[in-house]
Amino acid sequence: MPASVRALRADITTLSVDAIVNAANSSLLGGGGVDGAIHRAAGPELLHACRLLGGCKTGEAKLTKGYLLRAKYIIHTVGPVWRGGGEGEPALLASCYQRALELARAAGAVSIAFPSISTGIYGYPIERAARVAVATVLAALPQAPELQEVAFCCFSASDLAVYEEVLAEAGGQP
Ligand code: AR6
Repeated sequence: MPASVRALRADITTLSVDAIVNAANSSLLGGGGVDGAIHRAAGPELLHACRLLGGCKTGEAKLTKGYLLRAKYIIHTVGPVWRGGGEGEPALLASCYQRALELARAAGAVSIAFPSISTGIYGYPIERAARVAVATVLAALPQAPELQEVAFCCFSASDLAVYEEVLAEAGGQP
């Protein structure tokens, strides 16, 4: 069955999916934004698990359990800090989505939700980031045939509008 790819507006910590993705920093020891929300909702055992992971490079991803979340897994990835777009930011952001999908697949997850990685504290312009996110996920789906559901979880109505437009242009389901 081909995956459903859609955008929705929610607090990602509330979603009932197999895996949610965290927009973390390279320490993996928590922070603000969605990272802070995920650590608060998953509980202190998440931080204990993250301490054992030895950090994470930009564009890479690491997997933990979901602890108190409904999601079985959390995939922690580190997006690039936006420095104007000429320092490899699009390729690093694409790598976050690719590596997260690979880990989800290896864990047997059939549903996954992504936040809008790098577009908060890290300053990546939302429209450019949404284009990278949607194009990367759509290109990776043929290699992940078990995946049934991919959600782009937006925190604001304006971010949702951007993702819906980008998805519609790309031929996905808004
Ligand atoms: N559910 C879904 N999306 C959310 C939530 C939530 N509960 N909370 C925020 N967002 P950001 P970054 C959105 O700043 O730019 C942390 O301190 C938010 O509106 O969380 O990758 C890390 O530790 C935005 O659209 O992540 C790093 O140091 C998106 O999530 C740094 O921030 C990403 O914003 C990473 O910065």
